[in-house]
Order: sequence, then structure tokens, then C-alpha cells
Amino acid sequence: MNEPPLTSLIEGYSLRVEKALERYLPIVAEPPERLHAAMRYAVLGGGKRIRPLQVYLTGEALGIEPAVLDGPACAVEMIHAYSLIHDDLPAMDDDDIRRGKPTLHRAYDEATAILAGDALQVLAFSVLSRPASGPPDSRSKLAIIQCLADAAGTSGMAGGQVVDIEATGKVLSLGELEQMHLLKTGRLIQACVKMAALCCPELPTEVALGLEQYSHDIGLAFQIKDDILDVVGDSQTLGKTAGADQALEKATYPGLVGLAAAENKAADLARSACAALEPMGSKAERLKELAEYIVSRLR
Ligand code: IPE
Ligand code: IPE
Ligand code: MG
Ligand code: MG
Ligand code: MG
Repeated sequence: MNEPPLTSLIEGYSLRVEKALERYLPIVAEPPERLHAAMRYAVLGGGKRIRPLQVYLTGEALGIEPAVLDGPACAVEMIHAYSLIHDDLPAMDDDDIRRGKPTLHRAYDEATAILAGDALQVLAFSVLSRPASGPPDSRSKLAIIQCLADAAGTSGMAGGQVVDIEATGKVLSLGELEQMHLLKTGRLIQACVKMAALCCPELPTEVALGLEQYSHDIGLAFQIKDDILDVVGDSQTLGKTAGADQALEKATYPGLVGLAAAENKAADLARSACAALEPMGSKAERLKELAEYIVSRLR
């Protein structure tokens, strides 16, 4: 199967977010140098940048200037990078490779990895609170901060990661597994769409509801595809250790229902995600392409 070219979809956005992240991250020359270097190592020059892309493409569909979205796009990528750093720690998935290079705790040390994650998490909210980031009015700004905080916390990523750890070696029901995936991965992806939508105060209800359904579906599809790639992908392409889920007895979608059913579920979700965008008409084309990419990607 051929992967659709994400490059045509991203255009300048990947470069844009890289530059903005570069700007927001603390410089290595300032103390604590080692911590700053670790943060930059984990965030810069790697990753598919799907979440920032999701923010920008939602904004594009809603007619919001990319400059307004640099803060939210970088903030969600910082939360994501922190979640990966902690996810890779020996106490969690104990991974050695991330984004094609040694995981942060391998390249540095565990304490630095924990602290770099902590610092990235708070930097994300510092960025969102800055006057130049996001929409100018403080109500929308606060709503965006709350949105990302909820998505990262106990009813989002952190909550889902707890379920993931507790589910290790156990067989979950399909409902429990989907809930875990929605929390640990889906909520942050939903927040990408919602943060952009929150920059648009006059959003028609059917568009807001459509975007909510879309982001719910691609959020779940994203983690299902991640589970599938862990089985069918190779470490070189993935930039992380293939087969790690089975080795760790993780609860995964293909583990529970089989590869073919997992692929079908991901494809169904991409279709329902796209169908939910119908009220937006042709403005939603690139969001649909992103949904397609998420379930057909090779890494
Ligand atoms: C991996 O996310 C972890 C999950 C939440 C599934 P990505 O596949 O987006 O990782 P990067 O950012 O491209 O490295
Ligand atoms: C990670 O899920 C979800 C996060 C919140 C980081 P995985 O543990 O499956 O992610 P990978 O496969 O290590 O990237
Ligand atoms: Mg994990
Ligand atoms: Mg992992
Ligand atoms: Mg995985």
C-alpha cells in the first residue's frame, strides 16, 4: 500500500512549526544548559508534527490566520513531546529509540528526562498564556488553555496512560480499549481541532459538532493505526522499536480483534470523520486528506 504524500498536505506548516518551536524553546546557552539541551533534543527536528498540522489545517478550514495558531500548535506539540519522553521511560514502555534516535533518558539520563517532560508541560501553558499567542481576547485564550489542560490531564492523556499501564498483561473489553485509546491519544488530537475552533467565536453549531465528531474519530483511528504499525511496521521506518507492544503484553487494538478488523475499524473511522465534515463543504478537503493520511501512513 502506498502512503499518500503528506508533504503536499503540510506545505509550509512543518517548517513553520519548527521555527516557532525553535523560538519558544529556551536556548542552550542559558542555565540550566543540560535541561534546555534535553528539551530541544526531544522536541526539535523530528516527529511527523501531525498535531500542529491538525491545528493549522482546522484553522485554514475556518479562515484563521496561521500566526494566531503558532502558540496552540507549539503548545500541543510540547505536550505531545513530553508525553513521549515519559512514555519511553523504564517505568513505562522502556523504549530505547524514538524518532530515529536514542530516547531522551538514553541520550541523557532518567532524571533529566523526567524534568525535561515536566518543563515542556509547563512551557506549553506559558506559551498559550502569552499576549501574542492565540486569539487576543482573554475569554478565548482561557478556553484554549482549559481545553489543552483537560486533554493532557486525568480525563485525557495522563488518565489514558494510567489505564495503559494497568492494562498491561490483561485482556480489556473492546469498550475499555477504545476508551483507553480515546484518552491517551484521542483527547490531545481532539484538542488540536478544538483549540483552532475556539479562535473562531462565531462558529455555526453544525460545523462545531462536525469538527468534534471528526476529531473524535481520527483521534481513535490514530492510536489504532499506531497499534497496527507496531505489528506490521519496521523499526527503521517507524523510528521506534517495532513489536514493542507484544513484547510488553500491551492491550492493543490488533491484539484484541486481529489486524484485518483493526485496519477496517481505522478505515471506518476515517470515513465517518470525513462524513462529519459535510457541513463545511469544500473547505474541509485538506482535513479529509489528513484523516486519510492518518489511517494509511507507514510511520
Ligand atoms: C506516537 O505519536 C504516540 C502516540 C500518541 C500514538 P506520533 O506517531 O504522532 O509520534 P511523532 O510525533 O510522529 O514522533
Ligand atoms: C503512547 O502510546 C501514547 C502517549 C500518550 C504517549 P504508545 O506507547 O503506543 O506510543 P508509542 O508507540 O510508544 O509511540
Ligand atoms: Mg505507551
Ligand atoms: Mg510507547
Ligand atoms: Mg504504540
